[in-house]
Amino acid sequence: MEQGRGQWSSRTGFILAAAGSAIGLGNLWKFPYITWHNNGGAFVLVYLVCIVAVGLPIMMTEVLIGRRAQRSAVGAMRAAAGPLWSWVGGLGVATGFILLGYYTVVAGWTFRYIFKTLQWSTGGYTPGTSSGEAFSQFVSTGSIQVLLAGAFMGLTVAVNYAGVSKGIERAARVLMPALLAILGLMLVTSLTMKGSGEALRFIFTPDFSELPARGILEALGHSFFTLSLGMGAMITYGSYMSRKQSVVKASVAIVVLDTVIAIVATIIMFSVIFSQAGLRESISGSTAGMLFITLPELFYTAVPLGTILAPLFYVLVAFAALTSTISILEVIIAYFIDEKNWSRHKASLVCGSACFALTVLCALSLGAWGQLSSFEIFAGKQGLFANLDHLVANWMLPVGGFFITMVAGWIMTREATKKELVDETTPRWFHFGVWRIFIRFVAPGAVAAIIIAVLRGADFS
Ligand code: PHE
Repeated sequence: MEQGRGQWSSRTGFILAAAGSAIGLGNLWKFPYITWHNNGGAFVLVYLVCIVAVGLPIMMTEVLIGRRAQRSAVGAMRAAAGPLWSWVGGLGVATGFILLGYYTVVAGWTFRYIFKTLQWSTGGYTPGTSSGEAFSQFVSTGSIQVLLAGAFMGLTVAVNYAGVSKGIERAARVLMPALLAILGLMLVTSLTMKGSGEALRFIFTPDFSELPARGILEALGHSFFTLSLGMGAMITYGSYMSRKQSVVKASVAIVVLDTVIAIVATIIMFSVIFSQAGLRESISGSTAGMLFITLPELFYTAVPLGTILAPLFYVLVAFAALTSTISILEVIIAYFIDEKNWSRHKASLVCGSACFALTVLCALSLGAWGQLSSFEIFAGKQGLFANLDHLVANWMLPVGGFFITMVAGWIMTREATKKELVDETTPRWFHFGVWRIFIRFVAPGAVAAIIIAVLRGADFS
């Protein structure tokens, strides 16, 4: 095991691990669905603006706060702004705990789909097998849900247990290139399908009359989720980074990778969906629907080489989810290692088990356990799973992000942030003054707009 708190062994190691955190179910499961829901083009454009104007400056901020302090979220916020602000890091740890609780459930589904698609690919697929009813039955079978989520949590804990460079970085080095290769293969295949032209038009032709007003805030909220911002994941990963690496360059690389993957995933899904006549109208009305109900059927009825691509695709989703769950757990573990002097082994096992207790409840809240599945805290959100997702995506990440920008823009001195962002590694195009305007005014203004919109009843989950 590594001594001390650990460090990335190289620059690419950090970029792959952080991109792995960013690229996850948010890209493959949420983004295509909300793009669909908000009618494509104009929404995608607004999303890109949010990524550049809010996501990128906050990414640089989290990484710089972490690298400067070489401590986990709580200690890093304390080092940045004094003990009065360490609660922002604490909020991040709490957010991580809740997020991991329900994220692992969806992540676990990927195992079932890898298994099922392998079965279908080798034994044959009967059209109609992957129906909405079959899916509901699957998610409401408690034992299977707990088993799958438990397996996923076990895998996550095993990686974090092994350490920063020997576990997290090593996993990212294997999983991320594999993910990119599979996605590339799928992109090429999907572009040969007859729906691809319509898909590209849908995604890249902005028509602002088609964009619902709430779509703007939805785009902003999603840019936090997809870039893993607002809960200290990037602070924690930044804290393992060496001073020889440019914060600016690394942040740009992470943001570009995440954005490209989200767009590519969307092109793939819509090319497939639009290739099937009539499907446009009948897309299931849920986020899960597209990835776990519509797509499996299409792999076997419409996609060229679908029998090979189907299992590979769910392997890809599993890899993307795993590199994200690892980063969420690491926020919690790093807190106990740095602040409570726990060993990495103890922290991994104890934190993993505590999160798993919540995961079990989430896994049972999709129909298996009546009371857990039906209560409603936020209007229209039924059951523990949906309410926690709403709480994290709409409240905890934006609020955390808001205070992180406040600390960097208004509490830390200009010199302190400049020292991290500007040195001999900084690319020429970067202007510190511009970053500072974004972090003092643009980003907090936009985030405050999300929070106000949420208070008035919008929902971005
Ligand atoms: N960015 C991840 C995704 O898109 C989710 C995530 C959020 C991971 C916050 C870590 C922290 O799936």
